[in-house]
Amino acid sequence: MGNWQLEKYDQPQALTKEVLKELRHGRTAGLSRRQLIRRSLGAGVGLWFLEVLGGTLGFLWPNLAGGFGSKVILGDLDTVAASPANTDATLRDGAPSYFPEARTFVQLIDPNRGFQPGESIDGDGEAVNVRAMYQRCPHLGCKPNFCLTNYWFECPCHGSRYDRIGTKILELGPAPRGLDRFSVSVDGSGVLTVDTAKLTLGPLPVALGQPGIIPARSPGSCI
Ligand code: FES
Repeated sequence: MGNWQLEKYDQPQALTKEVLKELRHGRTAGLSRRQLIRRSLGAGVGLWFLEVLGGTLGFLWPNLAGGFGSKVILGDLDTVAASPANTDATLRDGAPSYFPEARTFVQLIDPNRGFQPGESIDGDGEAVNVRAMYQRCPHLGCKPNFCLTNYWFECPCHGSRYDRIGTKILELGPAPRGLDRFSVSVDGSGVLTVDTAKLTLGPLPVALGQPGIIPARSPGSCI
């Protein structure tokens, strides 16, 4: 027999029916297309769920943490007076305290009296002798400063002026109303709590010289 009749050992063999069937139904190495699709869908749903969870926690977090957007306990009169907005004057001088965590200025309605137990849902504060004002100017949202020259709030952006308890002076600046107010309560121990989830819009401006405005202490200003 000559060599021409021998088959080489590494020559490809023809695929028989059985071999083709085995290839078609046998397990493939790595991921099949179906597995890949299933896993991709699973990963997508998982990511969506994490996003929803993160968003929900982000939305609720201020309420859970006791920060802005929830009730903030500020303390008794001495504690509140120890956080003055201006270092040279305190609540008893008629100047506000400031609490960045509640984004609020706190002011005694009558500086000669302390907090009175009770609550003021609409933030007017007359009944408890304390008012908590949102730090945001109702015009375009800048933060007014308390000016120790005239004892008024003055907005540095467009010059709106408010008296010491947040009433807008009609002629001075473009803001459409007084500073907005948070709900407040004072418990039997004289501890003040501000509910920063409950905001009441400030009242309409009052013209200079009309009742309802606490006059400036001097004609000067800080801006
Ligand atoms: Fe305060 Fe414009 S933002 S006056």
